[in-house]
Order: sequence, then structure tokens, then C-alpha cells
Amino acid sequence: MIGTLYFLALVSSTTAWGHVGRLGEASQRNGTDGGSGDKCSCEAFLPSSTFHIQDLEVVEDVAVEVHHKLEMELGKMETYEAKITEYAIRIVNLTGEVEKMEKDLEAFNEAYIESIKVQIKQVEALVMELQSSLQGSAVVFESLRATVTSMMLTLTDLEDKYDKNRVLEIRREYIKIQFQLEECERRHQEMFNPNIGSCAHTGIIRVSQPIVSQINTHLNAGYRFGAWGKDSKPLPDRESMYWYSGYTSAAIVDIKFYSNYKALILRNHFQHHTLPTQWYGTGNNFLIRENTLYYQINNPFSMAKVNFTSMKYEYRVISKASTRFSYAHSSNQNFDFAADETGLWVTYASEASSGHLILAKINEPSFGIEEEWQTSVYKPGVNNVFMVCGVLYAVRTVDIQMEEIFYMFDTRTQQEHYISVPFERFQEGYANLDYNPTDQKLYMYNNGYYVNHHLWFNYTTKAIEDTPALLI
Ligand SMILES: *[C@@H]1O[C@H](CO)[C@@H](O)[C@H](O)[C@H]1NC(C)=O
Ligand SMILES: *[C@@H]1O[C@H](CO)[C@@H](O)[C@H](O)[C@H]1NC(C)=O
Ligand SMILES: *[C@@H]1O[C@H](CO)[C@@H](O)[C@H](O)[C@H]1NC(C)=O
Ligand SMILES: *[C@@H]1O[C@H](CO)[C@@H](O)[C@H](O)[C@H]1NC(C)=O
Repeated sequence: MIGTLYFLALVSSTTAWGHVGRLGEASQRNGTDGGSGDKCSCEAFLPSSTFHIQDLEVVEDVAVEVHHKLEMELGKMETYEAKITEYAIRIVNLTGEVEKMEKDLEAFNEAYIESIKVQIKQVEALVMELQSSLQGSAVVFESLRATVTSMMLTLTDLEDKYDKNRVLEIRREYIKIQFQLEECERRHQEMFNPNIGSCAHTGIIRVSQPIVSQINTHLNAGYRFGAWGKDSKPLPDRESMYWYSGYTSAAIVDIKFYSNYKALILRNHFQHHTLPTQWYGTGNNFLIRENTLYYQINNPFSMAKVNFTSMKYEYRVISKASTRFSYAHSSNQNFDFAADETGLWVTYASEASSGHLILAKINEPSFGIEEEWQTSVYKPGVNNVFMVCGVLYAVRTVDIQMEEIFYMFDTRTQQEHYISVPFERFQEGYANLDYNPTDQKLYMYNNGYYVNHHLWFNYTTKAIEDTPALLI
């Protein structure tokens, strides 16, 4: 009979494009593509992030090499995009042919059926090869990112030793490289992860190394308190907008909006909202959703929102909530807002819960609490929590280098589990950590630096079925 098996294999490997991260380890192939080769050449010339360079010329040479590598990767991205389009057309065509055969097999001769089988096998092989190349690029990006981060930090050290203008010139070069890397990663991400918005997974299985963008807009490491990120439910004309708010204490006094990532890095905001004194906030666990700031205020102690579209201010007192319980790194973090694929959430602890975390779903239109769950997480023992797909994740410190997502609470099943997803941290103190459902990244404000992490999920078969058959 017609190779339904081949067909299924083809479909699953095709739709698995979106799961390269998940399939990555299992599908390492010794192909002829650039995947593994890139990895070697890349690691050969790149110094590790712990390598200390004292010579500005070395930093300059590395910039040239990184730039060259990125040009090559951008070229590859174009090839990948063209290939995906080409394979997609072929797969749609073959799917159509198989459907015709399934309806009326008699109408096709053996030779034709055989030729379709061969074509399906060919496309399948091509898809596997592409998947492996994409995985190779991911490795290159990770390595380039580590290099750029380490060079940027080195430049700061070299400022005292060399002519400031020369250092500045090289820094500009690295900023350009960062844009290019970001562009490469964005395009890669689109091919790599078409599952944005999907919740058909059983949770987080991996967190990338920290991606350090740069120090905050104030260019001041004293602005340790704050947050940055993207709107989790952007207005139609603000999809690429970034926001940042930082301060030298836990207060929230103003917020800046940037039209895109480049504008953020160039510190070129298009809006700067300074809150009236009576609207000042605290606690750093705020976010922007639908052009609205959700945050904690202390007078009266409550959760508040400022809608920057209507400039309307509102607050809600949660009488049970206590000011006594904050996260491990910082005081005043009593209300922590989170947004995910399913909506808006807030966590806090109370006297009655003995400092254990209470998770609450916020009803957005009324700004009231819809439903609540008590967890067994003792709030002062964790560094932060965030939500993904209606599941709460809590993070604690392992040692000076590592953090760990150690706990999850699923609001759908009301079950909690202890897990271990370790990840490297940039520096010790971070004021804010949140997930953004629009790009499935974790955003962290760490000692004045903008840091983010990619996430990988354990997609279920259902996710594979739910994925549109093709990227067209
Ligand atoms: C890939 O290469 C490794 C190391 O050279 C070897 O052990 C392994 O069998 C190869 N796998 C395939 C599928 O060829
Ligand atoms: C697939 O492509 C062939 C050759 O280009 C064409 O004859 C056929 O009609 C196409 N089939 C479908 C289902 O689009
Ligand atoms: C913000 O205000 C605008 C204009 O009144 C309104 O349409 C929108 O729903 C509000 N959004 C939130 C989250 O309050
Ligand atoms: C991924 O999900 C499957 C069930 O779909 C489960 O058996 C497996 O243990 C999960 N893996 C991890 C690392 O969580």
C-alpha cells in the first residue's frame, strides 16, 4: 500500500522544525552540512568568557572575526529561508498527491507511487539536513554572544589603560555587531520556533546562557533596581516596543518606551512617562501589558495600574497581602506581576499563608482577583517567580554561578512538582525576572544590565499535531 508510514515520518520531521531545540540532542547527525564544522571553527578562535584580555588590539581583531562570522551566518539565514519555502511547496504538493492516492489508489500505477515515495524520502532527508544546520547556527550564535559579552566587559576594563576615544570607537563596533547578532537570532528564532503562543508542552526543559544586552539607559550601575522588557500584549502599532524603568532604590518613578531593540540600545526613547509623586511605585516586579503598567504601591499598600493610553490610574487593596514577605535578593517585593499566554497574574504572601506564596489570576477588565491558589513555596526563600502557560515557576540560587528553576505549580491540574532546570546567572543580584509570551523569552534586570534567556519546552505530540503543517 502507499507509504502512509513514510508520509507520517515526513510530516513529523517537517513539523519538528519547530522543535529543533527539543530534537537537537537526539538528532545530531554527522551530515555534510555546516553544523558541526561551524561549531569547531567557532570555538577554536573565540576566547572563553573567562579569558582576560589586556590588549585592545586583540579586542579589535576579535570584532573583525565576529563580524565576518555573522556575515556568513546572515548569508546562511537567507539560504535557510529560501530552502524552507522551497521544501514547503514540495511538501504541500506531495501531501496533495498522497491524498489523491488515498481516495483512489487504483487510478495510479506502481511506478508513479514509487516515484512519490522516493520524493517523500528525498524531502525528508532535506528537512533533516536543514534541521541539523539550524542547530549548528544556534551553537554559533551562543558562542558569538558569549564573545561579544566578554569583549564588552573587557572594554570597560581597558578604558583606564587606553585612549578613551579609541575604546569608544571599538565599543561602537561591538554595538553594531550586537544589532547584527540580534537580527540573525531573530530570523533564526522565527525558523526555529514557530510555536510561539502554543501551550502544548509539559514545561521548561532548558534555559539558555544569559544574553547580556548592555547596561541600562542611565549608563549607571547604581541603577540596580528596575526592570525591562516588551509589552506582553502589545497594541497593534507597538509590537516591537521595549520598555525600561530603573532607579537607585526600589522606587518606580518613571518609565521609558523605545520603538524597537535598536532604539533601546541607542537609548533613544520615544516616550518618557514620569509618574506623579502620589503614583510612585515600589518593588521592581512590575510589567507592561496593553500599554499599561501593573505595579505595587505602598500608599495605600496595594496593586496599581497606569494605563498609558488613557493615562488612567487605579489601585486595588488586597487586604490579606502582607508587606512582611519579600524575595531573597531585595526588600519591598511584595506583589509580583506576571503575564503569560493565558493572561495576567499576581503573586504575594500573607500572614495566614505563613509567608507561602499565593498565586492569583487577575481579571483584566475589572482589575480584580478571579481565582487564587496557595503554593508550598516560602516566598523569602526564592529569588523570583514567573508564569508560562498558566504554570508558576519559582527560581532559587544554587551557588554563586548558577540559578535553578526548582518548582512548578500548574493551575490547570492544581498540582505542584519539584524540578531542576539550572541556568547560569550573569551577576548575583537581580531585581526582576519575567517571561514574555510574545517571544517566549525570560527578561531579567540584573545589577543594572538588560539580560535575557531563551527557553526550550518539552513539546507534546499534541503540539506537533497543532503546529500548522507548514510555515507558509
Ligand atoms: C557520528 O560520529 C561519531 C564520532 O565520529 C560516531 O561515533 C558515530 O557513530 C557517527 N554517527 C553516525 C550516525 O554516523
Ligand atoms: C504537484 O506537482 C506536479 C508537478 O509540478 C503537478 O503536476 C501536480 O498537479 C501537483 N500536485 C498537487 C496536488 O498540487
Ligand atoms: C486603556 O485605556 C484604553 C482607552 O480608554 C482602553 O481602550 C483600554 O482597554 C485600556 N486598557 C487597560 C489594560 O486598561
Ligand atoms: C517530556 O514530556 C514527556 C511526556 O510528554 C515526559 O514523559 C518526559 O519525562 C518529559 N521530559 C522532561 C525532561 O520533562
